[in-house]
Amino acid sequence: MKDLTPDRKTLDPIEIASRDEISALQLERLKWSLKHAYDNVPMYKKRFDEAGVHPDDLKTLSDLAKFPFTYKNDLRDNYPFGLFAVPREQIMRLHASSGTTGKPTVVGYTANDLSNWADLGARSLRASGVKPGDIVHNAYGYGLFTGGLGAHAGIERLGATVVPVSGGQTRRQVTLIDDFKPNAIMVTPSYMLNILDAFHSAGLDPRDSSLDVGIFGAEPWTNAMRKNVEDAFDMHAVDIYGLSEIMGPGVANECVETKDGLHIWEDHFYPEVINPETGEVVADGEEGELVFTTLTKEGLPMIRYRTRDLTRLLPGTARSMRRMQKITGRSDDMMILRGVNVFPTQIEEQLMATGGLTPHFQIELYRSGHMDSMRVHVEALPKAADGASKAAAARMLAKRIKDVVGVSTEINVADPGGIARSEGKAVRIIDNRPKE
Ligand code: DLL
Repeated sequence: MKDLTPDRKTLDPIEIASRDEISALQLERLKWSLKHAYDNVPMYKKRFDEAGVHPDDLKTLSDLAKFPFTYKNDLRDNYPFGLFAVPREQIMRLHASSGTTGKPTVVGYTANDLSNWADLGARSLRASGVKPGDIVHNAYGYGLFTGGLGAHAGIERLGATVVPVSGGQTRRQVTLIDDFKPNAIMVTPSYMLNILDAFHSAGLDPRDSSLDVGIFGAEPWTNAMRKNVEDAFDMHAVDIYGLSEIMGPGVANECVETKDGLHIWEDHFYPEVINPETGEVVADGEEGELVFTTLTKEGLPMIRYRTRDLTRLLPGTARSMRRMQKITGRSDDMMILRGVNVFPTQIEEQLMATGGLTPHFQIELYRSGHMDSMRVHVEALPKAADGASKAAAARMLAKRIKDVVGVSTEINVADPGGIARSEGKAVRIIDNRPKE
């Protein structure tokens, strides 16, 4: 793998500023953001008044803990434009969640918001080892999803060449990579596995591809998966995080030189980690739910937004800004089986350590008697698709999950190609439990 460490001279000065400088900027911006939300969004005024807090009460960064949380449902309840803090005419772009459950959530950006987003996208790409003049294959979905257009603006802002492929048409993705010779690819990790299969089907060795780095996000993925993809393509794999409510891709990004968790772009987003049950802020280093407050967003300021993503805050390394550990999972995706909490990432780790299987998997939840149970659907590698090899892989994986995760599972090893492929965010959990 190539050394892609960026030249420190190319970084934004604030990325490597002192903690005092970062905190001072955060405090100044946080005061502005609280006031902006309070003065311009009726929901925030009502919530702050009810909680007996006023933006002037924020004297230090830790005073933020006095302010009320904002939830995904608040966006639904104020659908479509009720949380915008500027006149609608100043919103230059809308994005929305797919809204598979209920109303979609709508987010809006002013011209300044879009410009900041592009800057942070460019910063994220630079942290990933991409340089001006490189070619970037962008296979995040274009449209209402923030992935495609968000990454697109960052690539252009950096001064790289964007190939706006979007998701889908997997064979064509391989042809374009083979022909255009991009240095980097931006795509969900699960779709990258699908592209990997298509390389093999096309008779191409992925290790011979031009790709030096993959920038993977929009869904949880593990260090075990990182190793798998890095070996398969002989390239770096780094993690990019974001969510529409806060901005989109580029809220945090891993540095290619350390790959030790994602640096949060703290000059624009103030992170807290809380105990999801009590709402108390926990100390850096402790695991809990990630909460973000936007510091510069004009269109849709978010105050203490509950992401439902579970992680820990860690001190800066390659940059002064704090890191978050790779996301373990969303609290929504946590399965509780006989009292044991289980996340799909834990299953992914054990799958990657078991021979004879592809990295594709799905988890089925079902009811047996009064108990919730889990069946893990995995897929045999073509060279290990005979009955004996499949049975051995199933036994091995069940044992690993029992020993390490602590739950008994049934394993179903499908034939090669038997597990549904992702073209964006993978569907990991199929819930077949009876609806109560
Ligand atoms: O997924 C934004 C994005 C696009 C990020 C492309 C990175 C790359 P949403 O559709 O609003 O936005 O989904 C946000 O996806 O709360 C997490 O649960 C999950 N997620 C995003 N990035 C990561 C990541 C985009 N690197 C939700 N690791 C978030 C784990 C992630 N989960």
